[in-house]
Amino acid sequence: MSKKQLAARWGIDFMTAFLLAAAFAAGTMAHAQTEDQAWLRYAGGPGRSTVPVSIRALGSSEMEHSAVQELQRGIAAMTGAQPANSGQGETVVGTLDEVRAAFPGLQVPAHLAAHGFWLKRTVWHGRPLVIVAGSNEHGALFGAFDLLRRVATGADFSHLDAIESPAMPIRWVDEWDNADGVVTRGYDGRSIFFEGGKVRDDLSEATAYARLLASVGINGCNVNNVNDAAPFLEPGMIKGLARIADAMRPWGVRLAISVDIASPQKVGGLKTFDPLDPDVKAWWTAKVNEIYQQIPDLAGVTVKADSEGQPGPASYGRSPADAANVLANALAPHGGVVLYRAFVYNNHLDYSDMKADRARAAYDIFHPLDGQFAPNVIVQIKYGPIDFQAEEPVSPLFAGLHKTNEAVELQITQEYLGQQRHLVYLAPLWKEKLDFDLHAESRSTLVKEIIEGKSFNRPLGGMIGVSCVGRDNWLGAPLAMANLYAFGRLAWNPNLSAEQIAAEWTKQTISTDPQVVATVDKMLMQSWPTYVHYTGFLGTQTLTDITGSHYGPNIEASERNGWGQWHRDDAKGIGMDRSVATGTGYSGQYPPALAKIYESIATTPEDELLFFHHMPWTYKLHSGKTVIQYVYDIHYQGTEEAAQLGNEWATLKGKIDPQLFEDERARLEYQAGHAIMWRDAIVQYFFKESGIPDTLGRAGHYPGRLEAEDAHLSGYKVIDVAPWEDASGGKAVACDPSSAQKTCTAEWTYNGHAGRFNVAVQYFDLQGAVAHFTLGTNGTEIVSWAANDKFPSHAPNGDNSTRFTAHGPDGRGIELKPGDTLRVEGAPDASDPAALDYIEIDPAE
Ligand code: GCU
Repeated sequence: MSKKQLAARWGIDFMTAFLLAAAFAAGTMAHAQTEDQAWLRYAGGPGRSTVPVSIRALGSSEMEHSAVQELQRGIAAMTGAQPANSGQGETVVGTLDEVRAAFPGLQVPAHLAAHGFWLKRTVWHGRPLVIVAGSNEHGALFGAFDLLRRVATGADFSHLDAIESPAMPIRWVDEWDNADGVVTRGYDGRSIFFEGGKVRDDLSEATAYARLLASVGINGCNVNNVNDAAPFLEPGMIKGLARIADAMRPWGVRLAISVDIASPQKVGGLKTFDPLDPDVKAWWTAKVNEIYQQIPDLAGVTVKADSEGQPGPASYGRSPADAANVLANALAPHGGVVLYRAFVYNNHLDYSDMKADRARAAYDIFHPLDGQFAPNVIVQIKYGPIDFQAEEPVSPLFAGLHKTNEAVELQITQEYLGQQRHLVYLAPLWKEKLDFDLHAESRSTLVKEIIEGKSFNRPLGGMIGVSCVGRDNWLGAPLAMANLYAFGRLAWNPNLSAEQIAAEWTKQTISTDPQVVATVDKMLMQSWPTYVHYTGFLGTQTLTDITGSHYGPNIEASERNGWGQWHRDDAKGIGMDRSVATGTGYSGQYPPALAKIYESIATTPEDELLFFHHMPWTYKLHSGKTVIQYVYDIHYQGTEEAAQLGNEWATLKGKIDPQLFEDERARLEYQAGHAIMWRDAIVQYFFKESGIPDTLGRAGHYPGRLEAEDAHLSGYKVIDVAPWEDASGGKAVACDPSSAQKTCTAEWTYNGHAGRFNVAVQYFDLQGAVAHFTLGTNGTEIVSWAANDKFPSHAPNGDNSTRFTAHGPDGRGIELKPGDTLRVEGAPDASDPAALDYIEIDPAE
């Protein structure tokens, strides 16, 4: 088809037709995946629409310049077309006023909401004209990115005439970076902002990050950890922070910082940090003025106080409102805001006190203060009452503050959700919380409407995403970037669906091929429920090591300590009684309609049952299953679902970038193995504790599994793994450091039927050293590999338990017959004793 024929058929101008043809030629398959560009790869839209490549700014602002630069880069990359002269039509970027002035007589909207934009495709003096008009330069920049998203996702905008504006003013990411460059709860490299106690010389990654953030409408970035904030107010550091602000400013992302409420004492040398002390007030005012001299557009500050060892106003008998307001007053003249975190609780609770309840803390502390916060304070509330768990109810505090600005705090980095080694797309979790109706004042009050300020008519509100990106590849896993993308999109418009966001992201990042999009989106949508299914149940929260890594299973870690993430399990049952009648009274913190639902066992949604009630193992759920049988079933289901994620991905072979394909394939294979370990840990723990057998006979029985501790061992010694549930049968073998042998072996005699088998080796890959393993049969080596993954923890446990599966030389399995020997040889390295849990033999066909 010629270009002219194309033009005729689509009823479009010649220039567009030219670009259209170029887009077709560029194809839809991804070029090499480079994670640093994430979804801004501009690999080629499906070619249904495009925009003139002559692009200019109507004004002279830095952000308009960024917008034009981005459009030129994006359009050229997606269509292959080079900037042309305006004779062939043009794309213009400006503010609404600039558009009015440049195109007199053109009908433009009378008004755009703050940071909003108008995208319009029209004809001006016979030539195509695409207008990107912002309420201000911020809006123009967001509009430019929106236009690019439309091209990349194949939107038809031949009749483009769209107005958009953000749902809420505060759309920030928080980084938990420390001055030494360590990113707390970050899983992919060191800080992009700091190193060696100061701001990095090279801030190009900060600029690149700001570009990514701006592309999804994020307008603020808090760069330092809430836990060690005092050094950031030292004069030298403020200078450095000003450089970060400069680096992000062209993309409209304003700097914010975490501050330590004890800074007047720690940094200022005052005797006190009592927020009501006049010297303290004066110190904050002077400090804030000093900051604004260097960073005139600082967005604001975030405070973690009286929480997990951080100092706070409680030391002086003062309230969070007292502390927030002293900062707020200092910031107000400059237009800055205070994000005061409601994550305040006592981490020395008494486990023996059946009324003690960490979940109550935020509401108990903040609800009585409603109305006492200054107008530029926003209370930042984690979505649940505990701490970013894979499943927990919505915090009742959202409904408990009617005269206070509120923001929801979500976590983009997957601290409790697989730490980016597991695929967990978080948008469905976030949507569940955002769409939740708290029924405050006996009317509909959705969380998203509360934080938009609509429900209680508040001027400020928003969404904060704890992101914790690192220098290597932002979040680490390519598919985890869908979470950063989704966070921004939802903060812009919480009414978008998780599916819609997944599809947008996939088209921009991986491919526009409909089968690829459908497959990836299905995987993304399934991933969160899958993770919940193998890591906890019925509202127990994530059953992980809550005092350490927050990664592998450790059921006891949540119990019998002051942290209050209890689930109170014993031989008879499990769950926290949070009812008003007999428990901690937490359910009474919700507005009456919900309080009533949570008070009763019969009406509490089953996925939160054990969060609200202590239930016997034999209690029958609506399905007729007992709680304990549900535990067994859901964990077996979860592992099957995890394996299914890998099967889905396998169908994309040859259809996407090979490097990305292989990278994610390996991650999903690991995840499927780790899910089995999670399943076994939880199933064997509660099987032992309850003593109730699995009606399907799976608990305690592992077909094809040969335990290392039952093998003929040479150099290996049997060890107890802690926690015991993280090893099959509680035991493993590890090379004896005192042995002179360089390698250790475990050998089994095969007694099953003859055939071809995949042999999985479950071993422990410890941090900080690289052990080696070899698998062989009948004295012949089949395969060897290095234990060189990066997992948490220096001792063998569920954090680093992993598996290698041998599929045989031709991929069709390893031939075995009765009497054959199987041998694993481990070569320890420094602190890694090449520990081994078991091997498992599964028929290959
Ligand atoms: C979690 C996390 C901490 C963090 C805290 C917070 O508990 O593990 O690292 O400091 O949340 O939100 O402040």
